[in-house]
Amino acid sequence: MERLASHPVLPIRDRKKISFTFEGRVMEALEGEVISSALFANGVKIFSEHKKDGSPQGIFCANGQCAQCTVIAGGLPVKACVAKVAEGMAVKPLKGAPELPAAPCVGEFGRPEELEVDALIIGGGPSGLAAAAELGKLNVATLVVDDKDRLGGKLVLQTHKFFGSVEDCYAGERGIDIAEKLQEQLREYPSVRIWTDSVCLAVFSDKKAGIMRGDRYCLVRPKVIVSATGAREKSLVFPGNTLPGVYGAGAFQTLVNRDLVRPAKKLFVVGGGNVGLIAAYHALQAGIQVTGLIEALPACGGYKVHADKIKRLGVPIYTRHTIVKAAGKRELETVTIAGVDEKFKPVPGTEKTFAADTLLVAVGLSSVDEFHKQALEAGMDALVCGDAEEIAEASAAMFSGRIAAHKVLKKLGIVSVEAPRFWFERLEILKSRPGKTHGPAAGSPENPVYPVLHCRQEIPCNPCVTVCPKRSIKLEGESIMSPPKFSGECVGCFKCLLICPGLAVTLVDRRKDKERPFVSVPFEIGRGLIKKGDTAVLTDPGGAALGTAEVADVKDFKAENTLIIVLKVGAEIADRVASIRLFEPEKAGASDALAAPDDSAIVCRCERVTAGEIRRAIRAGVRDMNQLKAVTRAGMGACGAKTCETIIMSIFRGEGVAPGEVTGFSKRPLFVETPLGAFSGVRCRTAQEEKTSWSGF
Ligand code: FES
Repeated sequence: MERLASHPVLPIRDRKKISFTFEGRVMEALEGEVISSALFANGVKIFSEHKKDGSPQGIFCANGQCAQCTVIAGGLPVKACVAKVAEGMAVKPLKGAPELPAAPCVGEFGRPEELEVDALIIGGGPSGLAAAAELGKLNVATLVVDDKDRLGGKLVLQTHKFFGSVEDCYAGERGIDIAEKLQEQLREYPSVRIWTDSVCLAVFSDKKAGIMRGDRYCLVRPKVIVSATGAREKSLVFPGNTLPGVYGAGAFQTLVNRDLVRPAKKLFVVGGGNVGLIAAYHALQAGIQVTGLIEALPACGGYKVHADKIKRLGVPIYTRHTIVKAAGKRELETVTIAGVDEKFKPVPGTEKTFAADTLLVAVGLSSVDEFHKQALEAGMDALVCGDAEEIAEASAAMFSGRIAAHKVLKKLGIVSVEAPRFWFERLEILKSRPGKTHGPAAGSPENPVYPVLHCRQEIPCNPCVTVCPKRSIKLEGESIMSPPKFSGECVGCFKCLLICPGLAVTLVDRRKDKERPFVSVPFEIGRGLIKKGDTAVLTDPGGAALGTAEVADVKDFKAENTLIIVLKVGAEIADRVASIRLFEPEKAGASDALAAPDDSAIVCRCERVTAGEIRRAIRAGVRDMNQLKAVTRAGMGACGAKTCETIIMSIFRGEGVAPGEVTGFSKRPLFVETPLGAFSGVRCRTAQEEKTSWSGF
């Protein structure tokens, strides 16, 4: 079984075991888990075969967006990443097109339940929950719907500590804990109702939202509708991009951090934004080897402290590199990368090939804004917040939710004043991209004990300032973006080490020995890996080796799930030591030559339409995506073009066609597949009712 037995941050709880079958093989699952995680836990990555060419299919998004994970369960095609496994369930691969189920025998028709609320919030992530709390404070009748079984959105996947400020957005706390706090806060507000496991299907022209709550369909008529629907991961076009083992970083975090499955042994990451860097770190926390991370730009776009954290742990970051091929017979086996020129074209002769069973695609997110657009078209009072409005950190999403809630209050006539000005200012700061990096951190050798603040990049973060009991850590400038500096007294309390989300604060203690001081470093990877008396490889903040040192002590701060490793080092390097290295970087294996241009790469996953087919259609004059759909079937499949539309648009641009010349896909009215009978409140007879004298119709 491929389940996590331990994790440095996440508790491993006992859960009831159930059994199901896949292709007739009996397997074990945990009650309440989704089929895809149960299959991964049993070592199964290939779920189905594509109807077009028999190619193996696995997961991509693990979030119900792409439909690549479709299997047959209980006789019906379902998305394995959304449908929950049940005791005795027979799961089969989908081979070819699914068979239409026998027409259900209608027991009775009904009318969908209707509900009126002041505010409907679609999405229970950080922005939706923050908005709901603001509305709850003023007793506004609010309904929050979320398609998952617990609230928090992507926060429930985040085991690292968050940036921002303590007073505004829980900085220094882990995403999983912030999700709990936001949810807990809502319990104080009885006017806020929560529907989990509830999928918004559409916002209709009669100003009602259709919600599938479990297997019951309801209509909600809100005075104001707020889309807090988050974002979906972008796909990437390269040969081998749909091999099982190649999937989104969010899908990986879902498997590991939500469902506690270990889906990989050797992992490679594409994308040096915060999502890719954090996913690599989460893999290391789960004991998975990360072979490397590539970024096409000259530097990673994510926070430097995130990049430094994984470099210190031995993960090489290849900037100015691209992925040229993922290869394997039925599942991913190797990843080939190459350097790029100034036009981002691969440079022959620079190829490197690595063994990997998992490749994470972390090349950005697209807003899920379909409901907001539908609501605007229907003429509703509609607002949007969080990633659905603009992709940013969760800390920014919380402010964005608050601001949206204030606008709701104004629309409802409950307040007349504008939202506090500082909310908008904080939002702008929290959305900021990282600024410039200042020179290396300075020590304070005039003090017997002092922190060294290795965080030198301008990012919105200040928990070390807030937590210092002596108020000796301040920001270098007025803005929260300024790096911190130390001056004054230090009592060696470790608080700044334990709260820093970047693990970028160390403590130098010369009180016992001036020549060989103790240096304490925060560490979050597996308890038991480092012990007192071990010899550790020291690294500077960026991961360069600084020699070795004896581990003098390991302190376990269980409440923070953080270790403090105390090292005895030479005075000359004490201020530069930032951490210890656990793994040596892996060398590339024999390299394949550059793959052919990406014409063979899949763009539309549902219909397996290649980049070459799309390019040929564009060169033949197609400028309307609906015509493209008719010519190639791109966008025709189950996901409704959620995954391929942005890629197709970039292919248009690559072919020299301006976006203004392209007509987009006609949107389907419904967000996800739904049984037709749901809309008329149909209740089907059960097999038992069929056999008995139940009269029905
Ligand atoms: S992997 Fe299940 S819908 Fe995308």
